[in-house]
Amino acid sequence: MNHVYQVRQELKPKGLKGISDDQINQHWSLYEGYVKNVNTLNERLAAFVSKSEYGPEYAEMKRRLGFEYDGMILHEHYFSALKPGQPALTDSSELVKQMKRYFGGFEAWKKEFTAIGKMRGVGWAILYYDPQYRVLSNHWITLHDDGHPAGFVPLLVMDVWEHAFMVDWGVTGRPDYIEAFFKNVDWPHVEKRFQEAAKAAVALA
Ligand SMILES: [Fe+2]
Repeated sequence: MNHVYQVRQELKPKGLKGISDDQINQHWSLYEGYVKNVNTLNERLAAFVSKSEYGPEYAEMKRRLGFEYDGMILHEHYFSALKPGQPALTDSSELVKQMKRYFGGFEAWKKEFTAIGKMRGVGWAILYYDPQYRVLSNHWITLHDDGHPAGFVPLLVMDVWEHAFMVDWGVTGRPDYIEAFFKNVDWPHVEKRFQEAAKAAVALA
């Protein structure tokens, strides 16, 4: 039986600095579309499976699934990390200690993450935790499904598709939007994600 995914209403941010509620509302409707498409595709795929029809229609829909799933999941990570008025990380934070180890410090980490976010083309900048080697790394993800290091845990996800900032900042506003993004990151939430990922980390035998 298919799991039916629901829109995670509780994750919807509001009252952010430099990212208006109108911008969030429009972006949110795209996220809702991914949830709907995941459910629709799963339903149609199940119908093919029940008839043991694994032809080209099944194959094309199966290929499409990763894009729709990642569109849903990445938007949930993105929205859940945005909350107004949260405190910055301090030097006693375990995440900051690890950033120091792998990037040279919070500011050095942020510099690379920002540069990735400004890369040409639509995509995402993601800070990942590698549970195998307990390492942090920044990645560029093209579209939604291309470039994820398998098994890594996304700690902070930044959407840099134009639809994420066009309402507020226009087509050339990506640098201003990235600055606004950093004013709204819910660092205690990111720190908690890091600690939970570290606790759950299991190396391959
Ligand atoms: Fe988006």
